[in-house]
Formats: sequence, C-alpha cells, structure tokens
Amino acid sequence: MKALQLVKYGKIKDSLVFNEVSKPTIQATDVLIEVKAAAINPIDKSIILGNLQNMLPIPFPSTSAYDVSGIIVEKGAEVSNFEIGDLVYSRVPQEQMGTIAEYVAVTNMAVSKKPGNISFEEAASIPLAGLTALQSLEHVGIKKNDKVLIHAGSGGVGSIAIQYAKAKGAYVYTTTSTNNVKWVAALGADRVIDYKTEDYKAIVKDADIVFDTLGKNYSLEAFQVIKQGGKVVSVVGPLDEDSAKMFGMADYKLPEELAKLISGKEASYKFIFMHPNGVHLGELKSLIEDEKIKPIIDKVYPFSESIEAFTHLASGRAKGKIVIKIN
Ligand SMILES: NC(=O)c1ccc[n+]([C@@H]2O[C@H](COP(=O)([O-])OP(=O)(O)OC[C@H]3O[C@@H](n4cnc5c(N)ncnc54)[C@H](OP(=O)(O)O)[C@@H]3O)[C@@H](O)[C@H]2O)c1
Repeated sequence: MKALQLVKYGKIKDSLVFNEVSKPTIQATDVLIEVKAAAINPIDKSIILGNLQNMLPIPFPSTSAYDVSGIIVEKGAEVSNFEIGDLVYSRVPQEQMGTIAEYVAVTNMAVSKKPGNISFEEAASIPLAGLTALQSLEHVGIKKNDKVLIHAGSGGVGSIAIQYAKAKGAYVYTTTSTNNVKWVAALGADRVIDYKTEDYKAIVKDADIVFDTLGKNYSLEAFQVIKQGGKVVSVVGPLDEDSAKMFGMADYKLPEELAKLISGKEASYKFIFMHPNGVHLGELKSLIEDEKIKPIIDKVYPFSESIEAFTHLASGRAKGKIVIKIN
C-alpha cells in the first residue's frame, strides 16, 4: 500500500517520502481501518523537525500522523464492539502511528463509530484536537457559568474547545487575529478578543479557567487573569511534575517563576498530554450529532499533495484543521 513516511528528521520537504509498504497486520484487539481521510496536527510537524526525539523517539521509516476516519475491513478475534463495515474515527496510539496511508491497524480501545452527520474528511479532523479540548476542559471540571479563556480560538484545538465549553454552559473568551474574529464568534464565543488590536489581559478578569494553547509568556500571564483559586490547564506550557514523570523525568521541578505564580493565586496548574480514547470520541460523536460541535476545516488536500499540507500546517496560521483525503 502507499504511505507517506518520515525517513529522517529535518525540513518537511527533505524528510517526507511516499513509499510502497506492506499492509499492517492486526493483533487480536485491533481493527484494520481502510483509511478515507487523515488529519495533521502540530505534533506531526514537531516530530518531523526532530523537536520531540527525546520524548517520542521514532524509528525510520515511520508513516506519519495520528488522526483517521475510515471503514473497518478486518477485526481481531477479541474485538466485540465493532463489525466489519463500521464507519469509524480514531486518534491512533503512538505505537500504531501512521494514518497517511491506505490502511492503519488500531486497537479497538482508541476507536469510535464516526458521527453520522459529517463526512469522512470532517470526521478525520476531530480526534486529536477534540480529545485535547475535551480532556483538558474536563480535567479542570468545566461547568455551567464558568468564565473560561481559550487562547487561539481559530486553531484546531481552540475551535473545538470553544464549542465544547459552550456546550457545557460556560462563558467563553477567546483570542484570535482580526481576520478570524467573525467566524470564531460564530462558533459561540461570548467575547472574541482581537489580539492585534486588544490586550486580552485588560479584558479578562477573574476567570475560573484559562486553557493555554500558546505556551511561553501566555502560560505565565494566565495567572494575571484567573481568579484566586482559579485553574490553568496548558497543552503547550511547562510540564507539571506528574506529566514530567510520565515522560521519564523523575527529578523534574516546576519552573520557579511558575511555582510562585501558582501559590500567589492559590491556583492549580496542569499540563495535559492528550491520550487516545474511544469512549471520549463517542462523547464527541454525540455532541457533533446534536450539532453542539461542528468540525472546522481549513483545507482538504489530496493524498498526492500531503507534503504541501504539512507546509501549510507549519505556517501556524491554519483556520481550523488541515485534512488529507486518502481514498
Ligand atoms: N499537549 C497536547 O496533548 C497537545 C494536543 C494538541 C495540540 N497541542 C499543542 O497546542 C497548540 C495548538 O494546537 P492546534 O492544533 O490548535 O494548532 P494550530 O491549529 O496550528 O493553531 C493555529 C492557530 O493558532 C492561532 N494563533 C497563533 N498565534 C496566536 C496568538 N498569539 N494568539 C491567538 N491565536 C494565535 C492562529 O490564529 P491567527 O492566524 O489568527 O494568529 C491559528 O489559527 C500547538 O502548539 C500544539 O502542538 C498539544
């Protein structure tokens, strides 16, 4: 079968190659998905550039990407929750990475039936970003009337997080640039802050939750806008001690400046590294079918133009998700 593979770390155009590879074989708990569409995420770019080689070492060659939608064409002897012919979507686990290919084998635990009211391309756009939004906002126990700041509302994660937070009844502030303000407001955000012309720190006061999707100074500034006892959840900022342990960094200590800000606000801080989860994808499926969440797609590329899709991703300006139609 044809697959887009990473053959070395480096620049996108030097590192990705279309190869003919054998069709994956399945374990007893796996399903084999005939891939209809895949989606790409900033982590795929970071892997290519070699930025994650200590945390997530990749053997070469490896097929790229984690997000998939498609049709189950084989199932292992122990799989009882899916049938051949089921239309599904998944964020595949690290060890099964490789969705820009004609087939991918995935543990049934990471798979859900796809939402019935959206296309394969739309379904592929959901898993990684959707699970990140759900798992981050659930970690901080988002609830009705919470005031939540979600950074980068026009990104893959932010565009779903806004809709998820609104579905939970929260009041949502979000940041984006001028050109995106209108469509991001249409996702339901209560106050869209144009970071080109406005200072979000002057607008957001006493937030219950900050969802930090930007990192760097934004992780620290979060403590200026949360209430006393508020919660900061980050997917880009410094690791917390538990998440550092997960990556084998037993002696890790929170950066001193961050630790001071947390104690000054009697706040909580958590770094989330999303995990594959078929049950959570099932929850997102229900929200999509209830029209509480709609997928936002920037562009669908044909399989043959997958490398161009990565170049677009690397610009950091995607409006929603970048999808690759495989078949
Ligand atoms: N820890 C985890 O498990 C996990 C999971 C998923 C993602 N992540 C990380 O989370 C981050 C976001 O992921 P993503 O998929 O949403 O990325 P993305 O879709 O590539 O984000 C692009 C968006 O970011 C916006 N943006 C850039 N700078 C901004 C700023 N200063 N203020 C407001 N918006 C800004 C851009 O809007 P403008 O063009 O308007 O600036 C663009 O729409 C990435 O760093 C990714 O690696 C982590």
